[in-house]
Amino acid sequence: MNLSQTLLGVTFANPTILASGIMGITASSWRLVAENGAGGITTKSLWLKEHKGHNNPTIISTEHWTLNAVGVPDAGPEKAREEIGDFMKKKPVPLIANIIAESVENFAATAEAILPLKPDFFEVNISCPNVEDEFGKPFACSAPAAAAVTKAVKKVSGKTPVLIKLSPNVDSIAAIADACASAGADGFTVINTVGPGMAIDLRSRMPILANKVGGLSGPGIKPIAVKCVADVFGVTKGALPIIGTGGIYTGEDAIEIMLAGASLVGIGTAVGDRGVDVFAKICDEMQLWCTNEGVDEISSLVGGMHRELSQRNAPTRKPSRSGRTRS
Ligand SMILES: Cc1cc2nc3c(=O)[nH]c(=O)nc-3n(C[C@H](O)[C@H](O)[C@H](O)COP(=O)(O)O)c2cc1C
Repeated sequence: MNLSQTLLGVTFANPTILASGIMGITASSWRLVAENGAGGITTKSLWLKEHKGHNNPTIISTEHWTLNAVGVPDAGPEKAREEIGDFMKKKPVPLIANIIAESVENFAATAEAILPLKPDFFEVNISCPNVEDEFGKPFACSAPAAAAVTKAVKKVSGKTPVLIKLSPNVDSIAAIADACASAGADGFTVINTVGPGMAIDLRSRMPILANKVGGLSGPGIKPIAVKCVADVFGVTKGALPIIGTGGIYTGEDAIEIMLAGASLVGIGTAVGDRGVDVFAKICDEMQLWCTNEGVDEISSLVGGMHRELSQRNAPTRKPSRSGRTRS
């Protein structure tokens, strides 16, 4: 079966996408990911200027979750230009440029700096939980702030579609998505990490991460990601595409988040746990599931849960006395 998906005019050979921050920012690592079956890649978050990350230790993992506070390190725009430029010369799969900033103006300036490299999409990281001390709360926690960033990036992004990366750590992700949609967002990536969380070393009685707290990812967050995708799909009535991300490890996980409303599926923490060929493995597992279930069009799965719910909730037609049905 053909797993390809076309989003806003860009065709992905399959729905699996490397999530931001997972395989560095080098053209060679992105090519490796593409060779191992990814349908598209997302860069690590790119800043306008070089940005230092947090001190080690920055990551701790168990089989259920990963806690990270890498602090979004970035070697700066020269390095980004070099690596993205190299990748784009012979681009094996579409490239999504993830951008981050500490002010609305710098989100726009970063998009302007990256635009000449011709990424297929911008992904705007308004939701990183690890850089709070620099700009208070993430932009994704306030509808007006999220909308202001969306509007500013849209103003300079030309024809390049803009996806807003949302946070699960809010009262209503639907309200934030709605504000971004009204400000011109072309789509969403749902979700960034959950939390923040903390892990304590029993011997030293100290937090394990040098930053004390970090964002949670991996298998344990999948139900939160599925619910958030369903909420965003619901509020936008399925009109804007979503990259569903968070705890996706298997083909069945990918199908589940597509039923919630995702058109593409971001894979992050699973790369470390299942290996870099996790993309090909997930595609094989999706193929097998679709064959067994008689599904011939992968796009028919997108938002399938919502259609099923509305069919089941539709008023039943009661038989009239004459035996004919009436609504
Ligand atoms: C080590 C690590 C680094 C990350 N760096 C970024 C980043 O630079 N920008 C970003 O938008 N998300 C970043 N993320 C979040 C992931 O892209 C993804 O949204 C999140 O981990 C949930 O997906 P997962 O459970 O498949 O990992 C990072 C996640 C991890 C684990």
